[in-house]
Amino acid sequence: MEKSTSAAKASPHPGEPLLEISNLRVSVPDAPNVKPIIDGISLHINAGEVVALVGESGSGKSMTALSLMQLLPTGLTTTAGTIKFDGEDILTMSQRQLNHLRGGRIAMLFQQPQAMLDPTSRVGTQVAEPIRVHRHVDRTTARARVLELLGEVGIPDPGARVDCFSYELSGGMAQRVMIAAALSANPDLLIADEPTTALDVTVQAQILKLLDDERRKRKLAVLLITHDLSIVSALADRVAVMYAGRIVEEGPTQQILKSPQHPYTKALIQCSLLKADSEGNLFSIPGGAAQARDLEKGCRFLPRCGTAAAGNLHEQCTHLEPALDSYNDCCKARCWAVKPNRAHSDVHEERRP
Ligand SMILES: Nc1ncnc2c1ncn2[C@@H]1O[C@H](COP(=O)(O)OP(=O)(O)OP(=O)(O)O)[C@@H](O)[C@H]1O
Ligand code: SF4
Ligand SMILES: [Mg+2]
Repeated sequence: MEKSTSAAKASPHPGEPLLEISNLRVSVPDAPNVKPIIDGISLHINAGEVVALVGESGSGKSMTALSLMQLLPTGLTTTAGTIKFDGEDILTMSQRQLNHLRGGRIAMLFQQPQAMLDPTSRVGTQVAEPIRVHRHVDRTTARARVLELLGEVGIPDPGARVDCFSYELSGGMAQRVMIAAALSANPDLLIADEPTTALDVTVQAQILKLLDDERRKRKLAVLLITHDLSIVSALADRVAVMYAGRIVEEGPTQQILKSPQHPYTKALIQCSLLKADSEGNLFSIPGGAAQARDLEKGCRFLPRCGTAAAGNLHEQCTHLEPALDSYNDCCKARCWAVKPNRAHSDVHEERRP
């Protein structure tokens, strides 16, 4: 199946720009004193690339994803920035353009497949919907494609399962159905928000392998949201680390996981490596995950950062927020302790007093 329904414009080839988020801000307009929950993030994904977004709970990963679909919950709105998808700004698209995009060129997978599937509609009907809406094929063609897709995602005996209801499926099977539905219109970008967190470990591994196989076969770009750094290591080409509504470090996955520079990334990696100390206590980053709204000025990670005191940076970190500067010609970090590569730094970015 062709990637794009548009006769005028084909989908970008692998490696070409697909998604470019620039200085995106998401705010709570009814609470002007509350700081933006997403505060000026920039991120790009090329066609065929897998980019992971990681960070503690509340850092803004899901709200970033929902902004891309313009599906933010009531009470939140995008107040600045651009989200260019294949050259066009999602934030200025008409409802008709958004409908074409959602489920057509951008598909989304969520943590709770059972909650996302309609219990009153048969599995086959739900997988067929994006095909019928976005590919404009008749019922017979759509049904044949649904059976093919259910087989591809590992549903045993698709002919028997196609007329099931979602409550008759296990969690793993329901997530396979969600994957079939997400892939059915042959999108360019898949947003997967904690797609395996709700599943048991064996099923997690099977679903991750399926996602990896399908995205390679389809040359699909993926924005992968996860807490699990082993998943990032296995699947992602690049990783962006979010803290309190900001991206604090970004770069090629192996570079960031092997040689993180930002104290927060180092702590996240330490948490994932050190399961427990000799007394069985789980390692966690000291202090609570700061939310963007709590912070007045300076570096948002300061209350939890040991590097600032050790490096004599406390004064600077207290009063001035660092920009996301390039380092080592490959990565970016938002930290005064990381030596920037000035030739490539984001010198235009505003530094907060
Ligand atoms: N409707 C809302 N109104 C105001 N603030 C909200 C609303 N929904 C979410 N938030 C806030 O937005 C911030 C980011 O939430 P988000 O769900 O993106 O976090 P997350 O990184 O996905 O966390 P998790 O890992 O737990 O899924 C949080 O501080 C949250 O409290
Ligand atoms: S800028 Fe300062 S407080 Fe922030 S992470 Fe770096 S050293 Fe720590
Ligand atoms: Mg989330």
